Amino acid sequence: MKKTLHTSIIIIFVISLLCSLNVKGQSDSPKLRVGNLRCEYRINPVGMDIINPRLSWVLESDKRDERQSAYRVLVASSPGLLEKDMGDLWDSEKVNSDQTLHIVYEGSSLLSRMEVWWKVKVWDRKGNPSQWSQPASWSMGLIRESDWEAQWIADPAAVSHETDSVNPNDALPATYIRKSFTIKSTVSKATAYISALGLYEFHLNGKRVGDQILSPEWTDYDKRVSYQTYDVTELISAGENVAGAILGEGWYAGRLMNVGRFPYGKFPRLLVQIEIEMDDGSHQIIVSNESWNSTTRGPIISSGIYNGETYDARLAFPGWDCPGFNDKKWSRARSFNLDSRRLVWLCNEPIRFEKELTPVKITEPEPGIYVVDFGQNMVGWCKLHAEGLKDKAISILHGEAIKNDGTLYTENLRGALQNDYYIPDADGLFDYEPRFTYHGFRYVELSGLSKPPALHSITGKVFHSSSPFAGKFKCSDQSLNRLMENIRWTMRGNLMSSPNDCPQRDERFGWMGDIQAFAQTGIFTMDMAAFFTKFLQDTRDDQADDGRFPDYAPHPGNVNESYSGVPAWGDAGVIVPWRVYQNYADIRLLAKQFSAARRWVDYVHRNNPNLIWANGRNNDYNDWLNGNWIKSDCWPKDGGEVPKEVFATAFFANSARIVGKMAEIVGRSEEADYYNKLADRIKDVFNKEFVSPDGRIKGNTQGGYALALNFNLLPEKLRQEANQYLVENINNRYNGHLSTGIQTTHRAMLELTRNGNNKLAWKLLTDHTFPSWLYMIDNGATTIWERWDGYVKESGYQDPGMNSFNHWALGSIGEWMWRNIIGLNPDDSQPGWKHFIIAPRPGGGICWASGEYHSIRGRIASSWIIKHGKFYLDVTVPPNTTATIRIPSSKADKITESFQVIIPVSVEEDCAVFEVESGIYHFSSQYKR
Ligand code: BGC
Repeated sequence: MKKTLHTSIIIIFVISLLCSLNVKGQSDSPKLRVGNLRCEYRINPVGMDIINPRLSWVLESDKRDERQSAYRVLVASSPGLLEKDMGDLWDSEKVNSDQTLHIVYEGSSLLSRMEVWWKVKVWDRKGNPSQWSQPASWSMGLIRESDWEAQWIADPAAVSHETDSVNPNDALPATYIRKSFTIKSTVSKATAYISALGLYEFHLNGKRVGDQILSPEWTDYDKRVSYQTYDVTELISAGENVAGAILGEGWYAGRLMNVGRFPYGKFPRLLVQIEIEMDDGSHQIIVSNESWNSTTRGPIISSGIYNGETYDARLAFPGWDCPGFNDKKWSRARSFNLDSRRLVWLCNEPIRFEKELTPVKITEPEPGIYVVDFGQNMVGWCKLHAEGLKDKAISILHGEAIKNDGTLYTENLRGALQNDYYIPDADGLFDYEPRFTYHGFRYVELSGLSKPPALHSITGKVFHSSSPFAGKFKCSDQSLNRLMENIRWTMRGNLMSSPNDCPQRDERFGWMGDIQAFAQTGIFTMDMAAFFTKFLQDTRDDQADDGRFPDYAPHPGNVNESYSGVPAWGDAGVIVPWRVYQNYADIRLLAKQFSAARRWVDYVHRNNPNLIWANGRNNDYNDWLNGNWIKSDCWPKDGGEVPKEVFATAFFANSARIVGKMAEIVGRSEEADYYNKLADRIKDVFNKEFVSPDGRIKGNTQGGYALALNFNLLPEKLRQEANQYLVENINNRYNGHLSTGIQTTHRAMLELTRNGNNKLAWKLLTDHTFPSWLYMIDNGATTIWERWDGYVKESGYQDPGMNSFNHWALGSIGEWMWRNIIGLNPDDSQPGWKHFIIAPRPGGGICWASGEYHSIRGRIASSWIIKHGKFYLDVTVPPNTTATIRIPSSKADKITESFQVIIPVSVEEDCAVFEVESGIYHFSSQYKR
């Protein structure tokens, strides 16, 4: 019997060994493999403007304890040279280093239009070389001002302010611009550089160029505008060619929340430069200038981000973007010189379609009015394939919810109409989808159709900034899986060039407080490195002269006058880059942000020399949407909001501390000393002013304790007391519920677990009673709601003035779920997941969880299951990294790894601790729930 067991264990072991060797079908290769080559976080980026870009790669190996001992990078000016292992631009030669991230290109100068190819080879810990990686590439855009021969152009009717008469709720008509040109010879290569002030769709000879949506995205257009580079060789040929563009008002000239119409300019403009090389060695260049023709009298009679598009098919001009079209009635475009704004490469992943949804149900609550339910709150627009009547407008109205009678609920959209219209030019079938807009919706109300729509008549097209998904999460509790799904959907919906608060009402701004709270959850969900690089540029572009960070970035108003200088919102300019550093080890970005972050702390300090942040707290949103906002008779009316000075001073102390750490890392030791001391002093004042000797914090709020604990502001001896008051407050005053808002909810949860109250954290997470995350889900949430009481059974929808159903701030709980259910925790002292901690903390009655996170250094995985009194934990630690594993365990001497008993490096009350090198490990321990 014993022998049989022994034999089967060996068989299982051999099978699992074989399986692990078979990763990606490379079982015959014991070597270290190198892949996922990226340049400035992007795969094969095109049109860059960084002259010393950074390269990175990911290692894979089937062996344990594997690491890189050296690398060699080759960069060549042609794929052929690279194939011959010739790095004519740069050969780093063999560098003895384990560095796989941010290797700075040190080859020949990178010039405008250059295309380069690169590959890398690495040596394992024993000095064996890998194969060369697959080749990767990058290319440069037009990096000198003098490269640009094009001029901005616009339609003269739009320029002559005819738009001023537009009703403030309307949007501008789209501009169509075209240019016919002749190519004299066979084209060997053609590259188009395109930008707009506004939004553009660019066409060549009837074909749309690129797959990006809402280009060139949202930046502070007064300072920088992105342009896109396209290889259009296949789209241009000898003979007559036509370049055409459609321009929308977008964020440049469209209505934006409090700023109103024309936030940056009054009419959209286009910039085009197409450079063509011929087989015979000659060149041609086509640039936007006054030789282009334009009109605003096309089929898109209005097009705005908030309101949607109205498309009158009767005004369509088929073939406008092809040769042979008669544009005699169009006007000559007006031109404008390139001005002081910089044309830049867009470093974040562009907005792209990700998926399509088919309706789950269509109802007809009123005759001829159809309500389509996609079963999922989503962001994008709809494609219609339906039947209509000539001249009869079809309305496509989008909303997140329905009323009891089944009709669409649109009150929470405020001033955003989210209504597309299509006016057919003939009876019968038509196909339609808008552009230059986006809608937040689960339901669509269709009216004006001539035939009832079928499920296939309408498709929901989901798009967002295409940062790659990085994390996968599953556990045995379906409600928690749904919660994580809701977080992912909310992230899809709000990652739209800037990190938005919401996607549906007339707001959709990169509110800094929201992304500050959500940043780590966002990082677990998607690879945010490139996106945050762009966002942090926006925070710097829109910092006020006195150092105030904006409340949102980009900031379309006057940041020196309003919407800047708010505790927790402005602090995003310090906290978000720190998160980027922790997760992606990006020191260059930290160095870029450093002086802005320092100026922010100096602003607060200057206004508050006694270190209590009382002055210069502009809008003071505090712990937005905390318990005091909940309207219910059986809920305390006060006690949720953190006293304003406690709240603000806690953020001040935290930011000063981070700026001190930033200074250390970027090598500014004097400033490090200064800000570390400042942080100590603020902490002292915080304690003197707000903390009583027994650990009570002024206001006795959950949020106050959460901040003080999370920012490490309390003396060690008072931590437990403060934590106890937090617990009591949750249990007694709020009957087992959180009263926290968007700044303190995830912090309270993290601190409960960190300070020995994991059980209570789990109870709050898995609670279904109001208010809780699962209450939202039980009441139909498929994305995260803005408010705990967005919808309450007894009272219905909350105040429509502020009730988004797609708001990621309360989704910051994702961070707790990743850190404690899957157990993944970055280690600040070895950033970029060089070392990390796997520490699952089971609870809430769940019996298994499984997750993987594609870190900047490769795939990290952690899966566990509780079975027959044992805790089984499988982990994957990528090559070149190490991990601390904390296994829940009731008997530290009975822990095995791959069936061998192993001795922990230390034992704590409820877990045993191991240090491991890279590899795949299978642990098991005795476990009592
Ligand atoms: C947004 C929030 C934001 C806030 C500022 C709201 O309208 O939707 O999420 O942070 O304003 O308090």
